Amino acid sequence: MAETITITDNRTGEAIEVPILNGGIDSAEFAKLLPGVWFYDPSYGTTAGASSAITELDGEAGVLRYRGYPIEQLAEHSTYLEVAYLLIHGDLPTTEQYDAWVHDITYHTFIHENVRKRFMEGFHHDAHPMGILVSTLAALSTFYPDAKDIFDPESRYKQVIRLIAKMPTIAAGAHRHSVGMPFVYPDNNLDFCSNFLSMMWKVAEPHYEPDPVLSHALDVLFILHADHEQNCSTTAMRVVGSSHADPYSATAAAAAALYGPRHGGANEAVIRMLTEIGSIENVEPFIADVKAGKGRLQGFGHRVYKNYDPRAKIIKDVAYEVFEVTGKSPLLDIALKLEETALSDDYFISRKLYPNVDFYSGLIYQAMNFPMEMFTVLFAIPRISGWLSHWQEMLDQDSRIARPRQLYAGPVARDYVDVVDR
Ligand code: CMC
Repeated sequence: MAETITITDNRTGEAIEVPILNGGIDSAEFAKLLPGVWFYDPSYGTTAGASSAITELDGEAGVLRYRGYPIEQLAEHSTYLEVAYLLIHGDLPTTEQYDAWVHDITYHTFIHENVRKRFMEGFHHDAHPMGILVSTLAALSTFYPDAKDIFDPESRYKQVIRLIAKMPTIAAGAHRHSVGMPFVYPDNNLDFCSNFLSMMWKVAEPHYEPDPVLSHALDVLFILHADHEQNCSTTAMRVVGSSHADPYSATAAAAAALYGPRHGGANEAVIRMLTEIGSIENVEPFIADVKAGKGRLQGFGHRVYKNYDPRAKIIKDVAYEVFEVTGKSPLLDIALKLEETALSDDYFISRKLYPNVDFYSGLIYQAMNFPMEMFTVLFAIPRISGWLSHWQEMLDQDSRIARPRQLYAGPVARDYVDVVDR
């Protein structure tokens, strides 16, 4: 027998049985049974905005899986491009499929010269690279009018490939512009991450070969950041995509959502916080301030994880591999002390606040010489494969346009008063 809950409508005395599906209530079913009754849930904390087969997240158990594969196994054995294929297509590729996928991505890494020369180089010299990335993604829609054909599988595939492939080129271009360095064209002889590092750091050498440890570390970070179910930016992607906007415009909206310090901007906030703390002796007073409500411990806490974020565990190990090459970050000791102090403090324990993905990722990026302004951009590069897989899934589900209700809390009806009489 199906599970139900019984709701008594005290206005009428009528008892209504509402069926429970997968632990929740189907809003269409609810609307039929109780017309005109809505849920007030501004942050969607108790609302499932989508049914999805992409990423499984169990916040209590600290579990994260893409298409059923545990994140730990993917981080150890896979590559970012293989994971991107998995997210988009639903299964791991065969050798033939993987080779074709990598070939297609590799041959779409270049951006139109006018995107770079006329658009990206028009930004002020100190423009934030995230601002450049968000606007360039939106601008790409004007270069690919065929992208509007969102129900043509061939066109859709082409835009997916273009977006995944061009992200590192745009990201590196945004950085080079902000530091006054010439743009570096993609080197299609290099793998995805090495090519990105080449576009970031190449100066006068004819061929840039990054340290394989750093390239691999970046690849693992990209795997860990590729998707995270219905987070703020993915929700933005699905909401904008539900209006049938082209994928470049929808992706720009998702990237804009990622820009905020509560979401993708947190890794930058972690480094600023650690720098401000300055030394191990200041950790305890800092924690006391947080507990007194003066700011938050950046890189701690999560809406869904109420146990250690599994990505944070993997990242902590990657951090040590990177420090072997780059030397230890001077902020690492402060981070370790902060983690230890918070994890043994009842304020954090009782609220189930643990380090999240951003607690250590900023330290790795900093050790690899990325400026802080690039941290959120580094998050966006792989997350685009997650956004696009959700966008495709949403379109295939024949979804309705996203359009929540509101609880009106303004004045009652009143008459217009002429300006001289106000
Ligand atoms: N430091 C101190 N207290 C905290 C923190 C924190 N980082 N996070 C939550 N709390 C407290 C909060 O004050 C509240 O306490 P009380 O019940 O006494 O009022 C309680 O814990 C619950 O917090 P909340 O604000 O209701 O939790 P939320 O689910 O709305 O927020 C969050 C989740 C990630 C926005 C929040 O934990 C936060 O601001 N963390 C710091 C920023 C951060 O690291 N963000 C990256 C998230 S992971 C990457 C991503 O997915 O983008």
